[in-house]
Amino acid sequence: MDIKPILGCTIRFEQDVARDIIVIGNWKMHKTAHQAAEMIELLAPSVAGCQARPLLAVPFTAISAAVAAAKQTKIVIGAQNMHDAQEGPFTGEISALMLKEAGATFVLLGHSERRRLFGETDSVIHRKIVRALQDDLQPVLCIGETLREREEGRTEEVLSLQLEHVFTHVPKTAFSSVRIAYEPVWAIGTGKSATPQMVQKVHAFCRSCVKKIYDSTTAQAVAILYGGSVKAERVRELVSQDDVDGVLVGGASLEPASFAAIIQQCEGVR
Ligand code: PGA
Repeated sequence: MDIKPILGCTIRFEQDVARDIIVIGNWKMHKTAHQAAEMIELLAPSVAGCQARPLLAVPFTAISAAVAAAKQTKIVIGAQNMHDAQEGPFTGEISALMLKEAGATFVLLGHSERRRLFGETDSVIHRKIVRALQDDLQPVLCIGETLREREEGRTEEVLSLQLEHVFTHVPKTAFSSVRIAYEPVWAIGTGKSATPQMVQKVHAFCRSCVKKIYDSTTAQAVAILYGGSVKAERVRELVSQDDVDGVLVGGASLEPASFAAIIQQCEGVR
């Protein structure tokens, strides 16, 4: 696998103080720029006083409009993917610098739909993480096992390999701006959410992998979110687990009421 060290990468970002709860909406290929602005205007008042931090990963074409609509609010806008090169002959692709200039502050990387439908490997995802860090975008790395891998008892092996492949040679200082999202592939868009106990066990394991790659302070500081059919009814129990620092929400992030309900359910947990 082609994994190279990042040279001279010393960028630091805002840290999550005491691991605040973070709720990220992943809109996937939904909403035009106009629809994005409309949704943010409806969502903002209902989350204004909430403790949890709302983030939205929106389609490329909606970033600028979403940033403008979110300006006086606590909602933070990001992207769902990017290329690993700074620029070049890559028709149809988008760079970290382009996303930054449009107003994105974070980017989802390694989502299972990117891995499964667009052939992204850990090696490609590693390069994207490095590029995001070098170009000052906060990456959210998505990892997760398939149903088959879980049934074969390989969940921990799969997750530890994904983490090792992606973060080996990423310096500790740069890693401090990374967030991790555990999204079991079998739970995404299926209505089958993992139980809070299953999620806690996996998150504690992922934290131990980060400890192995870096150290225990780094492992304690990293935010690990859960994603996969998250709904308001189940979110409180999920984020009450020690190692669950928030959720990554697909379907239920598309309507202001269902997304606001998820954010409100996190109230007072930490
Ligand atoms: P879902 O999607 O909440 O619709 O399962 C989650 C995701 O893909 O990030």
